[in-house]
Amino acid sequence: MSVPLVDLKWQHAQIADEVKDGMAEVMANTAFILGPQVAEFESEFAASQEVTHCVGVGSGTDALEMILRALGVGPGDEVIAPANTFIATVLAVTRTGATPVLVDSDPDCHLIDVDRVATAITPRTKVIMPVHLYGQMAPMAQLRALAEQHDLLIVEDAAQAHGARQHGKTAGNFGAAAAFSFYPGKNLGAYGDAGAVVANDAEVYDAVRRIRNWGSDRKYYHPSKGFNSRLDTVQAVVLSAKLKRMTEWNQMRRDAAARYDALLVDLPSVTLPVTLPGNDHVWHLYVIRVPDRDRVLAELNERGIGAGIHYPIPIHLQGAYAELGQGPGSFPVAERASGRDHVAADVPGHHRGPAGRSCDGASRDSRRLRFAAAVLHGPTI
Ligand SMILES: Cc1ncc(COP(=O)(O)O)c(C=O)c1O
Repeated sequence: MSVPLVDLKWQHAQIADEVKDGMAEVMANTAFILGPQVAEFESEFAASQEVTHCVGVGSGTDALEMILRALGVGPGDEVIAPANTFIATVLAVTRTGATPVLVDSDPDCHLIDVDRVATAITPRTKVIMPVHLYGQMAPMAQLRALAEQHDLLIVEDAAQAHGARQHGKTAGNFGAAAAFSFYPGKNLGAYGDAGAVVANDAEVYDAVRRIRNWGSDRKYYHPSKGFNSRLDTVQAVVLSAKLKRMTEWNQMRRDAAARYDALLVDLPSVTLPVTLPGNDHVWHLYVIRVPDRDRVLAELNERGIGAGIHYPIPIHLQGAYAELGQGPGSFPVAERASGRDHVAADVPGHHRGPAGRSCDGASRDSRRLRFAAAVLHGPTI
């Protein structure tokens, strides 16, 4: 018996009938590219994020790059982004030809450090790209104040923050646009790669719609260059079915996170995740810090509990970004977060009843985590 990092089988069981009917309709109508289900999902997702526009695209990485291109970001421009993120944030920047300027994170929430952003601004800075990491939003009020003061754009990387809020406001409402990933393991996940751009700005919306479709909004007319990166109709069917349940599933994640907190709070060796005041966290990941992380991780995994490290190597130490010339010591907080004392125990989005078995042989830390997982999942381990 095991507890997977993400229980996609459970999710599928909730929507199986709806997906079957929806897929049958797509097959019958053969509108595989930009079929009506895509526009339906786009308006449903825009409504759920409380923004005016949504464009369904091929992935979260493409969504980020397309926003930057829509804003005219390119060679000579600098984009400020956190060193502690998934590589796609920064790849999107370099793919436009712009220069990523990495900054460190705050040591409690591991979100982009506003003070470091302030000192990283130069006359070439065009965009600040905060990441709403692990399911909670970056400190947007302070970032917006900086952006206004220096006449910069904000692009939100919301790949991990579907439905998250800050002082009641959702991603997409703090800057020029926000990018979402619908990679299967995300809080709203497709059955393959998929993503979306949300924005209130009609110009950004129009530009991204053209870019996703070879730079065209009229067949065979291409006033500008673009990508082939559209949300597949079959993915829209899956996403619409899951979106109806997203609020409930996010609440299950919150409940699960609260139970993890309660179970782990009295373990002095475990540092619990911290939520920024005003944030309504959606717990894409529940990231704790433990000494001797590798041992705890190995014990969890040996016992079938999915857990991982988020992220084992910060961006500046990745081979892909050796070109930045920023070696060890450049971003100490991000480096500590990736070092040997962090483990990300995922909080799966459901709770199937009480449990709690004895777990002979496990160390105290991993025993408690295992118990937490057992409680969250039901008697499956
Ligand atoms: C923070 C962050 N940004 C961007 C992405 C890229 O999304 P995708 O995998 O859909 O391209 C991801 C997820 O993979 C992510 O976690």
